[in-house]
Amino acid sequence: MYVIKNGALGLALAWLSITLPAMAEGNIANGQAKSASCAACHGATGKASNTLYPNLAGQNEAYLALALQDYKKGSRTGGQAGIMQAFTSALTEQDIDDLAAYYAAQKP
Ligand code: HEC
Repeated sequence: MYVIKNGALGLALAWLSITLPAMAEGNIANGQAKSASCAACHGATGKASNTLYPNLAGQNEAYLALALQDYKKGSRTGGQAGIMQAFTSALTEQDIDDLAAYYAAQKP
């Protein structure tokens, strides 16, 4: 029984170590450096400069990364999405992960 439990734990840990690196691995400091062009609207720390723009501070990292990918792909449309399509078109996957990590780490 003990062995089986350990085996299950080992499997769970192996699964974690395989799936976690596949998720966003953003670097907060790099994200901050890359956020200069975003600050005019989203504020230096993710608090929007204008109520027409969304706050990003403290938002979920994976959600932020998904939103940026969707703008870049053009699959998130309508509303003010056109603005964000322009600002995401030149972002790499790493840029997106870093920016998502940075804003997620800010105090809301
Ligand atoms: C000119 C102003 C402006 C700039 C600059 C800008 N954004 Fe945005 N951002 C917006 C607006 C407006 C929206 C809402 C778009 C919509 O209606 O989907 C938005 C939406 C977003 C969202 C989705 C938020 C949510 O709650 O779904 C993210 C994430 C985001 N921006 C990140 C960024 C990043 C990262 C940058 C810099 C690379 C950036 N933005 C630059 C105006 C801007």
